[in-house]
Amino acid sequence: MWRSVMSADIETLEPKRDARTVDPAGIFFDPLSYSAFDHPYEMYRLLRDHAPVYYNERRDLWVLSRYEDVQAALRDHARMVNALGNDMDGTHDSYGPGNLIALDPPYHGVLRDLVQPSFTPKAVKDMEARMRALARDLLARFRAAGGGDFVTDVALPLVFDSSMRLLGAPVGDTKFWQDHLLRSMARTIGQFGIPEDAAASNREAEEHLAEVVRGRRAEVAAGINTDAPDVITQILTAARKGVTLDEAEEVGLAHLVLSASTDAPEALLTNCLAVLDKFPGLQRHLKDNPGAIRNFVEETLRYDGPAKNLCRQTTADVTIRGVTIPRDSRVMVLMGSASRDERVYDDPDLFDVARRFTSKNKILTFGEGIHNCMGAPIARLLAQVLLEELVAGLDGDEYRIVGTPERWAKQMVRGFASLPMKIVPAGRDTRKLKPHASAAHVQSLSVGSTRLTVETKEFEAPVRVTAKTVEADGVVSLLLAEAGGELLPEWTPGAHVDLILGDGVPTRQYSLCGDPQDRRQFRLGILREPAGSGGSVHVHDRLAEGDVIRIRGPRNNFELVPAPRYVFIAGGIGITPILPMIRAAEAAGADWTLHYGGRSRASMAFTGELERHGGKVRIWPQDETGLLDLAHILGQPDADTKVYCCGPEPLLGAVEKACAAWPRKALHLERFAARPLGAPVRNEPFEVHLARSQRTLIVPPEQSILSVIEEAGIGVMSSCGEGTCGTCEVKVLEGEPDHRDSVLDAEARESGDTMMICVSRACGKRLVLDI
Ligand code: FES
Repeated sequence: MWRSVMSADIETLEPKRDARTVDPAGIFFDPLSYSAFDHPYEMYRLLRDHAPVYYNERRDLWVLSRYEDVQAALRDHARMVNALGNDMDGTHDSYGPGNLIALDPPYHGVLRDLVQPSFTPKAVKDMEARMRALARDLLARFRAAGGGDFVTDVALPLVFDSSMRLLGAPVGDTKFWQDHLLRSMARTIGQFGIPEDAAASNREAEEHLAEVVRGRRAEVAAGINTDAPDVITQILTAARKGVTLDEAEEVGLAHLVLSASTDAPEALLTNCLAVLDKFPGLQRHLKDNPGAIRNFVEETLRYDGPAKNLCRQTTADVTIRGVTIPRDSRVMVLMGSASRDERVYDDPDLFDVARRFTSKNKILTFGEGIHNCMGAPIARLLAQVLLEELVAGLDGDEYRIVGTPERWAKQMVRGFASLPMKIVPAGRDTRKLKPHASAAHVQSLSVGSTRLTVETKEFEAPVRVTAKTVEADGVVSLLLAEAGGELLPEWTPGAHVDLILGDGVPTRQYSLCGDPQDRRQFRLGILREPAGSGGSVHVHDRLAEGDVIRIRGPRNNFELVPAPRYVFIAGGIGITPILPMIRAAEAAGADWTLHYGGRSRASMAFTGELERHGGKVRIWPQDETGLLDLAHILGQPDADTKVYCCGPEPLLGAVEKACAAWPRKALHLERFAARPLGAPVRNEPFEVHLARSQRTLIVPPEQSILSVIEEAGIGVMSSCGEGTCGTCEVKVLEGEPDHRDSVLDAEARESGDTMMICVSRACGKRLVLDI
């Protein structure tokens, strides 16, 4: 079966890293690697910025990623031809002799003109009434059942009905096509190779289609319905246009139309649903503003379109950006990357339902030039009709993903093979029902205005534990590599990541303590805290080398600012963010000293690697030397010195006190736990007005601003929920915040420009926030 083959072959088919495939910028991109399927956009950005004309020697494949180059390649049908079809090695994409995708001018134009009458605006418009009735019926049944798999229950039946009517095939045998055509769709090479039964299923589907063609040929010969608009009728009446096709061409062309009108529309519909789930306030916004649905579909096509790439073959040497791609080379053009190109789209990683599209930034996901997808208007109409019916049926509730969705593992198509969803009351946070799903990845959402600004730029990826090492009593270090062997995101000293362990274990934040130059791995140091929330105990007791978990971030609230001299002070596991700071200070030629305190030498991690710095490092095991002598260490304020301290609260408090006479910006603290809090300034409810959402909410004393906003169905990024990570920071437009977080320094608090809404509150009756 398709899915079992996918998982069985993962080890043997996973591409191995090869020094020759790493370009000078250190980027490794393989279209069949895990990240190319699961989270391709970070890698696309790296390609655009550092290797826009990239060569993967192992695959013997050139890759173009910038919008301008992708568009030019798609238009250059003289030097970038389709002769080998769309798959990356030209061996798996055969629909037979009538395959439009693998044809070039002039014959391509002949066959395209032949079936064009089935795709005219009138022909497409004529499909709408049937589409709408079926969509309404399928959604009603889905709602009545309380949910299900949106792919099999709604998206596929809707798409198949339309594609078979377009083709002119009997709709009565939908089940046959659903079972067999889906497998034959896997003909294009996918993440884990070709399913073993794909060829047989493909043959069976073609034989079935040949029977349909023969039956219809007899009817056409008898003069029955010869002016029907469907594709098979156009094919069988080709002689009217002076075109002669043999049966293999007829079946090949029909099969291509059937497949292409199924997989891309299905992917578009399911990507739309995933976007709706990701940004829950959108469903209500679209219900209130159905006129916005059309642009919502366009933005989804750009933001997470159904077609990631197409392949071409060069017929001559082609030079792009000074790099010559030799004749007879295979070239992959990444439309998925072009759609996120910051050279063309403002804030390309934001989902903006009001984004304007013009001829200068038109969407390339359906191709360009003579090979643009003929069925694109049908796919757009399907999505629009489905969404109109879906939001019209909302009754104070929402469609939400409640399980683990499964993406197609196909080279070209980006959509979902499974999308478990439920209908839940609006605003209910079903993310809690999804142990492996992302936390809120929404920066802000404005449902009452024209522009919605929704999407995080945060990186999230599966990572494999490549090493787990005991560093001291109760301390282990983890080395984490991206599960597909890709590069990890850039970070700076002081940064931390969220460790998402799954299985109901709370997500926690840990400082990165490795080398920022090493993009192959992250290193974390983790203290076992039995009285903690369970994350560190899980890491110590259960997590093992080889396990795959997820990380999110990095983000940095503890930036190392340039200075001629530093005093670093670490207590216990607080040494972790200091380690890369020392590396950076050393590299910058700064003068620095480290004072590192701990209960005992045995409990202090990383002392071995610190020793090489000789006298710059002073180790203070409490049972040998007593507490750090802060009066001596910080006794002399120095305008050129920055003090960085991370450790337990008593140490941080003592350092703050010792630095009282230092210049205002000299001291930088990082807290692992929330600072002890006094009573809030205000014990009565207060009002929060969300300026972009045009909503006003009341925050009672027992609730946080964050929870009130989330209950209102408005997504805001958050992570720790206790004011230590900085994820939920928002701009304050009016009012005085009662800062209760452990992130902002004194100056930032005084300015009142931003606040952490998971813990901070209002001093007065009202706050206006930039959400
Ligand atoms: Fe971490 Fe608010 S969610 S500071």
